Amino acid sequence: MEIGLDLGTSSVIAVLCRDGRMLGEATHPLTTRSPMPYASEQDPADWWQAVLRVLADLLAPLSASDRQDIAAIGLSGQMHGAVLLDATDQVLRPTMLWNDGRAHAECADLARSLPQIGQIAGVPPLPGFTAPKLLWLSRHAPQDHARIAHVLLPKDYIGLRLHGGHVTDPSDAAGTLWFDQAARRWSDALCAASATDPRWLPELRAGHEVAGPLLPQVAEALGLRPGLPVVTGGGDAATGAVSVGAVEPGAGLISLGTSAQLLVAGDSYTPNPARFVHAFAHTLPDRWVQMAAMLNGARPLAWFAGIAGAQIGPLLAEAEATDPARVPLFLPYLTGERSPHGDPHIRGAFFGLEDSTSRAAMMRAAVEAVAFCFADAFASFDSPAQDPGPLPALGGGARSDFLLQVLADVTGHAVYRPEGAPAGPAIGAARLAALALGRISRTDLAQRPVPTQLFTPRDAPALRARLDRWRALYAALRPLSL
Ligand code: XUL
Repeated sequence: MEIGLDLGTSSVIAVLCRDGRMLGEATHPLTTRSPMPYASEQDPADWWQAVLRVLADLLAPLSASDRQDIAAIGLSGQMHGAVLLDATDQVLRPTMLWNDGRAHAECADLARSLPQIGQIAGVPPLPGFTAPKLLWLSRHAPQDHARIAHVLLPKDYIGLRLHGGHVTDPSDAAGTLWFDQAARRWSDALCAASATDPRWLPELRAGHEVAGPLLPQVAEALGLRPGLPVVTGGGDAATGAVSVGAVEPGAGLISLGTSAQLLVAGDSYTPNPARFVHAFAHTLPDRWVQMAAMLNGARPLAWFAGIAGAQIGPLLAEAEATDPARVPLFLPYLTGERSPHGDPHIRGAFFGLEDSTSRAAMMRAAVEAVAFCFADAFASFDSPAQDPGPLPALGGGARSDFLLQVLADVTGHAVYRPEGAPAGPAIGAARLAALALGRISRTDLAQRPVPTQLFTPRDAPALRARLDRWRALYAALRPLSL
């Protein structure tokens, strides 16, 4: 058996798999803080406590001898965060996450000082990436910056606590803006431009290579075999791709978690920085991805349900039942947007509210907005990737039939719900562990999942007209954002 561990943004998920097939699952929630405008932070100590909790819960039903049968742990995690450590591996400050927008001025400076940065790093500078955060810290928290000895991505901090090494994989390195995507190595030029000493950066291993053996004290606490291999794994976009076999050219997926992605795998590096499509290394050798990455994903649905004091499921049912002709427009950009706008300053807005507007109509506007973002994502891809066929949908948002049907109608692309959708990246991490052990092959890894439900596009002229007005609303509000 293998364990897959995914450090998400809203929760940690652990799955138990046999040869990549899921047997059990445990989760523990995480909270995010925003102590100042643009800030989005979590504390790595909370991640580690949550990891210990989910592993204990996952293993609780197993006998002592079954625990000894666990052969490897694979890692996955939220990307782009900067975990800063001193020379004794102590965390220096809360981690600025992938949706932290504070480093926007530093991005403008990086684009000016290194005009070719988008070609090297696969995407133009945006504040969620790791390198601009280091530049921001050098200016706004020089006392912390001066003490940095190591920088890790979030899942690699969990790796450090599990095996004691500083190791990352190409797919997580890809999201830092320090990585030369074509050469698949750290770039001295990108480090020099962003107040980063290349010696702070972790060692690179492929996603299916062993990062290190499980530390004896952790093995003992969990009843696992000491020395168990901890497999490097990948950033959650790449492990989500692995979970649905999106590893061979042309195979893709959509992901609807706290963030959202449209991702298609390829066997070459093809940057398209003008539309903020991310050309990133995949976690496996000789593979890259094209990815439209949206910061707001399905999160606005949870956000609005919270505002309305309702549970998401019942509120989605109310939204589906409401009159579609009386729905306002909603810009879902609660934390700015990456693809296709590259705009850290835009914020959310409702437009067209009436005296009679209900919370159901506002929730329906939020559902449509998620689908409209995917219409933008498809439009920003180069033409060969325009029709990747029916795409598996991952993430918590993929639980909603209503959302997936509206998404298919708006984008004109069929999507389907695969088995085990919400646990996607954790399963991908477990499959990389199974590959590392030789229990599955690269051919097995490329198997596409079994669809449990297919959503085919219906003719929806009214929705497409609303998409045009929604795009015009962004263009109109953009100059007004701070
Ligand atoms: C990808 C991205 C998200 C985060 C959080 O670029 O920002 O996948 O990793 O899930």
